[in-house]
Amino acid sequence: MQIPIDFIKKYDKPGPRYTSYPPATDFHTGFTNDDYRKSIIESNKKKPESISIYIHIPFCPQQCHFCGCNTIIGKGNSFIHTYINALINEIDTVAQLIDKNRLVTQVHWGGGTPNSIDYKHIERIMKHLRTTFKFAENSEIAIECSPAYLSFDDIDKLTEYGFNRVSLGVQDTREDVLNIVNRRIPKNDLKKTVDYFRINGFKGINIDLIYGLPLQTEESFKSTVKQAIEMNPDRLVTFSYAHVPWVKGYQKLLETAGLPEPEEKMKMLVNSYDILTSNGYVSIGMDHFAKPEDDIAIALKTNKLHRNFQGYCTTETTGQVYGFGASSISQVWGAYIQNTKDIYKYVKQASNEGFAVERGYSLSQDEQIRRAVINEIMCNNKLNFNEIALNFDISPLDVQKTVDYKVEKLSEFEADELIQISENEIQVSDRGRLVVRNIAMAFDPTLDTSGQKFSKTV
Ligand SMILES: C[S@@+](CC[C@H](N)C(=O)[O-])C[C@H]1O[C@@H](n2cnc3c(N)ncnc32)[C@H](O)[C@@H]1O
Ligand code: SF4
Repeated sequence: MQIPIDFIKKYDKPGPRYTSYPPATDFHTGFTNDDYRKSIIESNKKKPESISIYIHIPFCPQQCHFCGCNTIIGKGNSFIHTYINALINEIDTVAQLIDKNRLVTQVHWGGGTPNSIDYKHIERIMKHLRTTFKFAENSEIAIECSPAYLSFDDIDKLTEYGFNRVSLGVQDTREDVLNIVNRRIPKNDLKKTVDYFRINGFKGINIDLIYGLPLQTEESFKSTVKQAIEMNPDRLVTFSYAHVPWVKGYQKLLETAGLPEPEEKMKMLVNSYDILTSNGYVSIGMDHFAKPEDDIAIALKTNKLHRNFQGYCTTETTGQVYGFGASSISQVWGAYIQNTKDIYKYVKQASNEGFAVERGYSLSQDEQIRRAVINEIMCNNKLNFNEIALNFDISPLDVQKTVDYKVEKLSEFEADELIQISENEIQVSDRGRLVVRNIAMAFDPTLDTSGQKFSKTV
């Protein structure tokens, strides 16, 4: 499907990615270690019972100049060892409060670059998790890897430690693009790397690409997307480069290198969508694509798609999320909790107190209703007011009031064929999925997009 460029221009506005509702920018420092302790105890009584674990490894050997993640560069093994000790202490403190009968259905390692540290640390944590928690039989164990540090031996080790999902940060297949953004090139052929993961039983193999970097052109990014498809991943994400130099000062270097014009960047998006969908990938939402037989594409069809800070996932494997490590975010029933981003503070606090909470957010009932509405739109591309009302034991009208629902607010989306409205249901169209963030914003009456809080939606 070819998307007209004017359509993209119209909807390219600042807005949250709704990885959480309320967005992480609303978390506040009034939320303490003690509040987290109470939230964990409370979470034992809430659904889902299953546990998702997030492990944050903030270390990278080299700073990519586009990076928006929470990282620290060039730390040696001795500091990393101290960090891992603190992280294990945090796991033990949290685990003591979690009901022993609850099962781990998902583990996700993110960063930073988890695959750049000594694999002994990875093995140690995986063993520790298995002796601390009960694991569900077919739990998903995923890791984000940068191909620059990944050998075939490493893949064998990850398999031995129980990993069965991987996300590869390819970003671009052109060496000159990687060089200009100060990113190391892959260690091995990427197609062979994907094949080797598959031979080792990995599923849902994902490739991340970014568009909007220096030296990228409409034509070059077309060829990057085509080459990525040849690598045969199960999933592919085409991130729009989020330029936030007021947060990440080094991103200014990319301005000096020369960023593509907004119109060219939009063409990259339009072409990627066209190439991926005409090569059999299904648009999952925003910038995510998957093969029709992949779990998340099936979940989209069966209304079982879910999203957390680690990305799209299925309601079958996702539980309440307990995050470990500096800057990690936990998502338990009625609250979000974020650890301090400062790794020195993290090490000190997690070692001494077992917790290192910096900020968080407890959701009111109204916010939980809005979150449910926004999640339905972001994940399952539909909104049925009756279903949401049933879950909260309130009337559909109450749900509508809470999200300040007014048909007039959606008339432009309807005219642009992004949604279809019937009596109690709103359905997001294929084209609407691309700008699903904008649609979700219409159900967020407290949203404030003034100031430099959010990157643009496209
Ligand atoms: C935790 S990061 C990277 C994982 C791993 N360290 C790597 O680089 O391959 C996850 C993904 O976020 C994306 N990303 C990082 N910075 C970004 C930015 N400023 N805008 C958009 N996407 C970004 C990249 O595609 C990256 O693969
Ligand atoms: S390797 Fe990944 S996390 Fe590290 S700086 Fe580069 S993009 Fe960011």
